[in-house]
Amino acid sequence: MQNYPQYSSKQKWIHWLTLVLIVCTYLLVFFKVTLSSYLGGMFNIYLFHKSFGVLIFGITLWRFIVIKQDGVPDVLPKSQKRQRILSKSVQGFIYILLIIVPLSGYLMSSRPLNFFGVISIPAIDMPNKAYQLFHQTHQVSAYLLIALLIVHIAGALFHYVWIKDKVLQSMLKRN
Ligand code: HEM
Ligand code: HEM
Repeated sequence: MQNYPQYSSKQKWIHWLTLVLIVCTYLLVFFKVTLSSYLGGMFNIYLFHKSFGVLIFGITLWRFIVIKQDGVPDVLPKSQKRQRILSKSVQGFIYILLIIVPLSGYLMSSRPLNFFGVISIPAIDMPNKAYQLFHQTHQVSAYLLIALLIVHIAGALFHYVWIKDKVLQSMLKRN
């Protein structure tokens, strides 16, 4: 038995799987030129980028259901008010962006989305102005998400290395 609060094993799976998918999604667009020579053209790069994005969207919806079922452990003590507000706000904005980023990616395209080349998700017909707006939203929100993740990861490492409490372990240890 651990004597500190823990996320459920489902929550841990979702958390670390999202990390892997997010890294892949960003790497695909940031290294698109190099990767396109391996994957055989830009078409494939965006097929994978979009498909990973859709997966992240789906997993995030599942995450909300799991949070509702399993609850969220009280990782930081009640006395650390400012830290609790900061970490919860960052996590809250991350949740919102995990919805906005893939959704705007889907909405900015006038072509059907080919999920891993298997399932075709139809595009929504909109005026050109709306596509442009979602394109901008996709770019801005994707970079905002990177900024928040830097704060989030720095916070987790700060707890582990500096404060030496069990915050990181709450997301790591096997239940
Ligand atoms: C969480 C998931 C996602 C993340 C983190 C993400 C992130 C990004 C980033 C960083 C860029 C480069 C922006 C730039 O500098 O121009 C980009 C571009 C793009 N994304 Fe996503 N994306 C995600 C999901 C999606 C989805 C679901 C779709 C479509 C269904 C999509 C479609 C695109 C397209 C078409 C571009 C190219 C835009 C351009 O040419 O300017 N993305 N994405
Ligand atoms: C090296 C990378 C990462 C580390 C070390 C890390 C660490 C942690 C830790 C220790 C917690 C629990 C803290 C608490 O409850 O106050 C947590 C929660 C959370 N993390 Fe991360 N994280 C990382 C990457 C990510 C990524 C890439 C995302 C999203 C794309 C993310 C999203 C979240 C969210 C939304 C929570 C709240 C609980 C939940 O719903 O799972 N984290 N993280």
